[in-house]
Order: sequence, then C-alpha cells, then structure tokens
Amino acid sequence: MRAHPAGPRHGDVFTPGAVPRMPAGVNALEPGIWPTSSHRASGGSLVVGGCDVRRLAADYSTPLFVIDEVDFRGRAADFRDSYARGPAPATVYYAAKAFLATTIARWVEQEGLGLDVATGGELAVALAADFPPDRIIMHGNNKSLEEIETALRSGVGTLVIDSVPEIDMVSAVALRLGVTARVLVRVTVGVEAHTHEFIATAHEDQKFGLSLATGEARDAVARVRSAPALHFAGLHSHIGSQIFDASGFEIATSRIADLAAKIASDGASIEELNLGGGMGIAYTSLDDPLGVPDMAAALERIVVKSCERAGVDIPRLSFEPGRAIVGPAGITLYQVGIVKPVELDNGLVRTYVSVDGGMSDNIRTALYDADYTVVLASRESSAPPQLCRVVGKHCESGDVVVRDAWLPSDLAPGDLLAVAATGAYCRSMASQYNYVPRPAVVSVREGATTTILRRETQADLLALDPGAPS
Ligand code: LLP
Repeated sequence: MRAHPAGPRHGDVFTPGAVPRMPAGVNALEPGIWPTSSHRASGGSLVVGGCDVRRLAADYSTPLFVIDEVDFRGRAADFRDSYARGPAPATVYYAAKAFLATTIARWVEQEGLGLDVATGGELAVALAADFPPDRIIMHGNNKSLEEIETALRSGVGTLVIDSVPEIDMVSAVALRLGVTARVLVRVTVGVEAHTHEFIATAHEDQKFGLSLATGEARDAVARVRSAPALHFAGLHSHIGSQIFDASGFEIATSRIADLAAKIASDGASIEELNLGGGMGIAYTSLDDPLGVPDMAAALERIVVKSCERAGVDIPRLSFEPGRAIVGPAGITLYQVGIVKPVELDNGLVRTYVSVDGGMSDNIRTALYDADYTVVLASRESSAPPQLCRVVGKHCESGDVVVRDAWLPSDLAPGDLLAVAATGAYCRSMASQYNYVPRPAVVSVREGATTTILRRETQADLLALDPGAPS
C-alpha cells in the first residue's frame, strides 16, 4: 500500500506533542480521484466540466451534486469497449442503484450499455426515460407480483431469480400474460469481496441468491427449466462492492464453472453468465483499484480458464458496474458554516468544519466508515494546513462527511468545499433526516449545466403531511 500524502487517516494515533505529517500540496487535485475535466482556475477556484464551482453554487445553491457528463460517458464507453474484447464479448449493464435519473438513463442508452434495476421504482425511471426494455435486467430479492407484472408487461429483457418461491411467482405471471420470461438464476457462491480483500466461506449467510454449496441453485435451475413460461438463460453472481482486483472473482467463477458442468450433465447449457458489479474506485490516494481494461482482461482470462478446466462452453458474459461509472464523475459542493477548533487529549487541535449538508446527502462515511478526499474549492490559499473533520448540520455526532482532512487554516464561513467521488451511492441513498431537503444534481459539460434532479424544497416535504396547510 502506498503512503498517504494527504496526512493522517481515521484511526491514526498521535503521540502527545508530536506533529502529524503535513501534506505537500494540501489543496492539490490528486490525480485519479477528481472528474477528468477538473482543474483550478487562475484564482484557485475549482472548475469541473468547464464550470467554475462558485458559479454553480451561486446558480444552484449548496449542497450540490455535480456530475461531469464527459467523465461519465467516458467511463461507460471504457466499460463497453474493454468488456467487448476477448472470446466472450460481454454485455455491460449500468447498475442504477448507484445513481439514476432519466438523464442518466439516456446517457447509458446512448453509450450502448444495458441497465440493471433493482426495484419497480428504478424500473419506472428507466421506462420514463424510454430506455429500451429489452436492455434492462431486473433484480430484487423480494420482487412483488406488481413489480414482476410491470417488468413482464413492459418487456424487460431479463429477470434475475433470487429465490425458489420467485420461480413460481414469475412463472405464474408470465403464464397469465402469455409471455415467456427470460431468467438468470442468482447463485450464492460463498465468496464475499470488498476492496482488495475477499473471503471464501463454505456457507452463505446472507439474503441474496440460491446456495451453490447446498445444491439449491442446481435444483432451482431444474425447476426453472420445467416451468413452461420461463426461459433459463444462465447464471448470475455478485460477490461484493468496491473490489480492487480479480482474486474474489476467480474463486467465484471457478465455483460457477463447476456448477455449470453439473447443469450441463442435467441437460442444460448456460448461454449467459453475469458476474455482477463491484469494480472499485479511488476515493483517496490510498486506493489503488485495477483499471477498467486490466480488470476486464483479467476477468476474461479467469472465465476462459475456469470453463476450460470444468469442460463447459464459454458463455456470453455480462457485468453490472455502478460505482465505477458514476462514482468518480461526481463531486459534492458544500458551503462552510461554523468552524470550531477542539483540543484533543494529545494536545493537538482538530478543527470541526460544519457544512450545509451532511449524513442526509452522504451516509457512506457514517454507514461504512468510508473515506473521502476534500479540498477548498472556491479560492486558493497559502495558509498552513490544519487537521480538520468535515461534519454536517444534522443533530447527530456521527454526522461526519470526511473524518480526517487537511484543509487550509484560513478556512472561513462562506468558503466552498468540494468532496470527490460522490457520484455513486450518495444522492441515491440520501434522506431528508431533520427535514433537510435533498440537494439538486446538475451535470456539467463544456461550460454548460443541465439540471438532472432539482433541489427538494421545504414545501416538497410539507406536501407529504396532510396536517400542514397547503
Ligand atoms: N449488481 C448487483 C447484483 C448488486 O447488488 C450491486 C450492488 C451492483 C451490481 C453494483 O455494484 P457496484 O458496481 O456499484 O459496486 N451502498 C453501498 C454499495 C452497495 C452495493 C449493492 N449492490 C456503497 O455505498 O458502497
């Protein structure tokens, strides 16, 4: 692992009197973390997609999610092209759960990707954007009959079967509608991968999929094949998220190839193998994920090797990256409010920098102990760096956006901060905790802006309350 140039991280211990290592360029835009178009204007303010963040904040207010359209499209195209090489050209579905709006669905469609939806709500957004339904794959461990019916009526290309009862549910709805449902069977392979670590266990203690180890997955395939209104198309596996290398996929694929051999001996072939998403990104300079083409090549090799060893045909592959497409394309802009120095036991001072959002627009720090990179975005500063914690405005001490960050010591109310790589799982997991309306999302491209989602208002929130005057 590389040394972290941006100073101490969460969990670092400082001995009393010791001065933590100062970063070289506290306000520098570290490569690989910010949207590709990002740079500093002459006065030091951050420019993304040709738009100065001061103008964005003035026009749209803060907190604000900003998505670099060219960056998003570039990453989508990189996945499309990298995974199209090799002996088993793959379909790439963008995982909507990372962030979806009709504009995003249109970009995904235009870049030639499919769309992975996990609920009827995500499906509704995709259909509202006229996303071609045959390029949609639908997930969900607890799909309702209504969701299944909407999916089949609207012509969703593939449904992923997640449980035994669901086989009968999908089959019954398909029969009633007089259609054939193309389905994959989701297999729990007993591998869990996060970042650069993975564990392979014999049992699978989680809610998704059908167990490979117990034989449940093989039985489910037989049951699907005997259902008249279902077309068994293949297998699905998703091993985790924010994965940095291919080792977890290797064990998963090897186990799936063995299952495919058993299924072949039952008389069925696997036309498609979907290996899910989970490709990781850099949130800080400590993170070192495999690049898209390298991961694609490694996965191709793994599939070919596993299938050859198991003696099964190489299926058509599919993948479902979400974070790796939208995550690095997005940043969050906040305005600084109260700046409060707090003396620590070790004699150091940590400066609590309160911003105008927090855990309602980024729950990932509180929920996963996620780490982020933050810079002063509205101006340059030559003030010495100070150890800061960027916190939100919510009534909760766990309301932390960035746990440990070096920021210039002249930080003052009204300054803008930018947090990098917030395109994925921030707006999509946002809440209205404390009746804080959810931020707008704007896309930027060559100096122009487009509203992707408008800012929620107090009136939007009160409109849900029949007791409030309308
Ligand atoms: N496919 C399936 C079946 C999934 O369950 C997921 C993510 C994906 C694809 C997309 O994974 P990605 O490429 O975005 O890592 N809220 C968490 C991440 C949860 C992911 C759940 N499933 C976070 O903020 O890190």
